[in-house]
Amino acid sequence: MGDVAVRTWGARAGRYTAAMATQEQSPEVRTPVEERIAELRHKKEQAKAAGDAGAVERQAERGKLTARERIDRFLDDGSFVETDMLVQHRSHGFGIEDNRPYGDAVVTGWGNVHGRKVFVYAQDFTVFGGSLGEVMSEKICKIMDLALETGAPVIGLNDSGGARIQEGAVSLAGYGFIFDRNVRASGVIPQISAIMGPCAGGAVYSPAITDFTFMVSESSHMFITGPEVIKAVTGEEVSQEELGGAMSHASKSGVAHFVAASDEECLDQMRYLLSFLPSNNFESAPYYPSGDDPMRACDELTDIMPDSSNQPYDMHHVIGSISDDGEFMEVHQYWAQNIICGFARIAGHPIGVIANQPQVLAGTLDITSSTKGARFVRFCDAFNIPLLTLVDVPGFLPGIGQEYGGIIRHGAKLLYAFSEATVPRVTVITRKAYGGAYVVMNSKQLRADISFAWPSAEIAVMGAEGAVNIIQRKAIAEAEDPEERRTELIDDYLEKFSNPYIAAERGYVDDVIEPVDTRRRVVQAFEMLRSKRETIPQKKHGSIPL
Ligand code: HXC
Repeated sequence: MGDVAVRTWGARAGRYTAAMATQEQSPEVRTPVEERIAELRHKKEQAKAAGDAGAVERQAERGKLTARERIDRFLDDGSFVETDMLVQHRSHGFGIEDNRPYGDAVVTGWGNVHGRKVFVYAQDFTVFGGSLGEVMSEKICKIMDLALETGAPVIGLNDSGGARIQEGAVSLAGYGFIFDRNVRASGVIPQISAIMGPCAGGAVYSPAITDFTFMVSESSHMFITGPEVIKAVTGEEVSQEELGGAMSHASKSGVAHFVAASDEECLDQMRYLLSFLPSNNFESAPYYPSGDDPMRACDELTDIMPDSSNQPYDMHHVIGSISDDGEFMEVHQYWAQNIICGFARIAGHPIGVIANQPQVLAGTLDITSSTKGARFVRFCDAFNIPLLTLVDVPGFLPGIGQEYGGIIRHGAKLLYAFSEATVPRVTVITRKAYGGAYVVMNSKQLRADISFAWPSAEIAVMGAEGAVNIIQRKAIAEAEDPEERRTELIDDYLEKFSNPYIAAERGYVDDVIEPVDTRRRVVQAFEMLRSKRETIPQKKHGSIPL
């Protein structure tokens, strides 16, 4: 194919002429079939170069890859099979009818990630600003339908100016078709979104429905209404980055699950995430054996617990010690850090880890951590990923803000999610397991399959000091030396209640284990549970307190 023709035509697709054929080929005469093939090749080359040259340059200047470069980086080498390369929009008005690039403003198809099939679409900002019209919607819906029918994940690489203004209501309908498919596919195939440019207005709702959203620092933004509209309506002034940038959504709103420094890092992270996920809800997550001995002793856990139960420690160390090779892909790393959620492998099998983090808000459960945990638990349950819960929770976070914000409603989500989960569930109580938070954090009473406690566990209605201040108030007040009496009573409570043995006596924990044995015991538990089959009562769907 002659480069001349492609460059000259830029974004515009058009008829292939005899003059072009002459320009491209050697003077020998072509058969009619060869002519047809040359025409086809020409069209496909045009589709590959659909973007406006200036726009392609601007994309690079902003440190962004093009849609095709992104797909190339994301998929296994040479595995991409493109669909709908030759579609063209059918709209009229504002001169758009004179510019009908092949493929429109999105590249779609399927390919492999780690040898497993995935469907992918990448909006092309260099064509009509990646804006979504009727034809783009049709292309995306087509691969979503194929993904659902064949049981493979859908990955959306978003970089778009939103609804194509020239197409008006038709483009809004296009979004509606996609949203509807997102909902139908939810819990059936993994859906992952990357925001790699603008994503504004109602367009944000497709990523919002998908299971995981990645954002790229500096170059991606998400908001319902931008800074100008906010200023006009509420008077608030905020920059685009502060309002809808990657770190804002990763740390403040929880809209973004992952943040990457560049397009390349984002695409690599998405590949890594897929290594933990099954292709659909009928499959198990992929098994990647490691050289890490499943029976390895966790020596480093023997000393991890501080002398005082009010002192924090980093629960990440416990996770790293239990998992294969210390590997852990944290989800929502910067949001609601008092709970840790993420994927690890144990004896080669992916596991969803959910753990209180004593280093942040003492590991209490609050509104955001309950919501974060609940969503993660439900994702894992939907996709047959067993759950490991590590508990060190002093309770729900007290406060007027928490109560008015609906901690009752949000905390209930976490309880609901655990209780409803039918995947294998293993709990390890490392230290505090107080009050309602004990029950919520995958307790035996919510049908955790196996529950362990370390000797440092304190399973009680509340901590010693709080308990003594309530139930021994009179005794303390009447004592000759109230402070001395308080200390005595606290020590007494600690001895009687702040341990795992009352729970063990009742079978609320299946065993009290030494920290050093944690990996071995967790591996054995999940191994035993591999054949677990549990069903919940038949219903249309539950009514989770949203
Ligand atoms: C048609 C669009 C477009 C759109 C951008 N373009 N957005 N064409 N419809 N929505 C075109 C531009 O005309 C331009 O074409 C090219 O894409 C690149 O745009 P620039 O403005 O030059 O790029 P940049 O400076 O990087 O700014 C990008 C932008 C800006 C911030 C996205 O283009 C913008 O504000 N666009 C409008 C965004 C918007 O309000 N969309 C509607 C959101 S509401 P040329 O030919 O000049 O290169 C929405 C509702 C969805 O989407 C509802 C779902 C239910």
